[in-house]
Amino acid sequence: MASVLYPRETIITIERHILEEQKFHPEATGVLTSLLYDIALVGKYIANKTTRASFADILGTTKDINVQGEQVMKLDELADHTIYKLNEHTGRIAVMASEEQADIIQIPDKYPTGKYVLLYDPLDGSSNIDVNAPIGTIFSIHRRKSESGPGTLSDCLQPGHNMVVGGYIIYGSSTMMVYTSGKGTHGFTLDPYLGEFLLTHPNIKIPEKPKYYSVNQGYQKYWSEGIKRFTNYLQGLEGDNKPLSSRYIGSLVADFHRNLLSGGIFYYPPDTKDPKLPTGKLRLLYEAAPLSFVCEQAGGYASNGKQRILDIVPESLHQRVPLYIGNRELVEKAEEYIRKFG
Ligand code: AHG
Ligand code: MN
Ligand code: MN
Repeated sequence: MASVLYPRETIITIERHILEEQKFHPEATGVLTSLLYDIALVGKYIANKTTRASFADILGTTKDINVQGEQVMKLDELADHTIYKLNEHTGRIAVMASEEQADIIQIPDKYPTGKYVLLYDPLDGSSNIDVNAPIGTIFSIHRRKSESGPGTLSDCLQPGHNMVVGGYIIYGSSTMMVYTSGKGTHGFTLDPYLGEFLLTHPNIKIPEKPKYYSVNQGYQKYWSEGIKRFTNYLQGLEGDNKPLSSRYIGSLVADFHRNLLSGGIFYYPPDTKDPKLPTGKLRLLYEAAPLSFVCEQAGGYASNGKQRILDIVPESLHQRVPLYIGNRELVEKAEEYIRKFG
């Protein structure tokens, strides 16, 4: 007789988990719960497209250059449009902003606005799309500050410590959604046959002993003295620590995710490579802030080298920041080197 596999553990879908978390918020109306479930649907939808990208003629570039001055990939555009279309009509959102769009994204007049603000990097790691390396979607949710009607730019320009939910979806060898609503960081793996995200990584804690450092070391000649010496430290060339292994995919979500589970630090420091980008290329609202919330809730820390990322008050939608994120002790070491050597 064919053997039957019985699950050993309780099976918790993301929907169930979100509902359970809602119990911590007696004032909750269920809107946030539904919004998070919409994001999980975004993940399923984009995962479905990315896995078939080669067949569906959606690899490669569009002819457009985005607001960041970067080449737009077909999947960037598809992911951006998908997130918009899944959220514009639900009545849960006041306003959105995307890494791919110059201005805030308003809800069409024919639909009601809601109380939340959704910020997203629709597809992170675009340069990896055509070579089948992991990519991701990063999102954050804030409460609107404006009272009612169309959301505003200042609804979007809130410091990370106001965030209600931060998270990402990684499209790798499996698809995972990782999020925090301020009660720990939790990871769910998409079972493609069930079409459900199931809780596989409850209450993630970044391991105390770091294993990896992740940085684009090809740009070393453009770094400051402090960054160079901090990197020496990670390599065991100064100080008394053993060298860490180096890992760099060039997909923030994937690099961050690996270090979250294995321990380590990711950094994208300022460099002099491009005078237009003196603070490095990562974006505060769409990349740095949401991952910082996830990281802190897993016991880690994130800084721009001088201050906590979650305390930075954004001045513009597409503002860029240096990012040092991972084990607290290593991020604080980076701050120390920057303080001493610049
Ligand atoms: P995006 O694809 O959303 O524009 O982000 C790309 C980012 C990030 O994912 C990654 O960490 C970084 O670019 C890699 O940049 P370098 O190639 O300069 O190392
Ligand atoms: Mn990105
Ligand atoms: Mn992107």
